[in-house]
Amino acid sequence: MKSVFITGGTTGMGLELAKIYVKRGWKVGVCGRDPLKFKENFAYVSQDNLHYYQVDVTDRAALQSAIAEFSSSIGLDLLVASAGISFPHKTRIPDFERSYHMVHVNLLGVMYAFEAALKVMIPKQSGQLVAISSIAGFNGLPGVSAYSATKSAVTKYCESLNLDLSDLGITVTSIHPGFVDTPLTRVNPHPMPFLISAQKAAEKISHAIDKKKMHYSFPFIFSFVVKLLSLLPRTLYKRLMKIKLFNFSKEH
Ligand SMILES: NC(=O)c1ccc[n+]([C@@H]2O[C@H](COP(=O)([O-])OP(=O)(O)OC[C@H]3O[C@@H](n4cnc5c(N)ncnc54)[C@H](OP(=O)(O)O)[C@@H]3O)[C@@H](O)[C@H]2O)c1
Repeated sequence: MKSVFITGGTTGMGLELAKIYVKRGWKVGVCGRDPLKFKENFAYVSQDNLHYYQVDVTDRAALQSAIAEFSSSIGLDLLVASAGISFPHKTRIPDFERSYHMVHVNLLGVMYAFEAALKVMIPKQSGQLVAISSIAGFNGLPGVSAYSATKSAVTKYCESLNLDLSDLGITVTSIHPGFVDTPLTRVNPHPMPFLISAQKAAEKISHAIDKKKMHYSFPFIFSFVVKLLSLLPRTLYKRLMKIKLFNFSKEH
């Protein structure tokens, strides 16, 4: 029986991915900080193959021990680092406290999870690491400097690791969603073009994981446009970003 550990697997895309793997008959471990989210969101899901760990991904030792416990008793074929945060209010002047926290959760949280998983995967020379990055990492977006920075870093981190680890039988995949309807985005005060459900997003992500892709971005049209923006000369990109339609950041 296969096994997957999902950080941030109690709401949003992590939750929907966990449900997919439970349905497939995999053993599933999820972690998050709030056990109530697990209790509420998995109330109607078969608990036989399900394990919850109350862990904050910024606590390296606690995350390592949760993943070590899961893998030693159950195994570890797949690790999905989905835990992440964003801040709904886009501001021009960075809130540095929040930015540092975001780096800790969105970037170091992924590294800590990968570190723990590789302790198991390298010796057996098989496994797959997946990080839920974002199309927000393709360009430096206005108003979300720390979020763009963490997601860009996660994407490049995965790309490097993919090159380094493929000869050891380990696949590394980075996923770049556009807007997905989850608790994270429901508080956004701005329009969210091409918004899709977390369930649909998780279906797409699980297919990309099955295909062992290096990168996967969706929805197609939105991610295509955002990728095109990343190819523009930066002076032109800057001019476009001055247009209110594309720029959600406030005066302060
Ligand atoms: N939704 C989108 O439109 C979108 C688009 C692109 C990328 N993403 C990325 O996709 C990932 C999942 O996002 P989502 O929208 O599904 O978010 P979500 O519904 O808010 O779920 C976040 C999950 O992460 C957990 N979490 C948050 N901080 C944590 C921490 N410090 N330690 C452990 N667990 C933590 C939450 O549980 P607890 O609160 O109980 O800890 C929850 O299970 C994130 O990395 C996000 O940046 C989202």
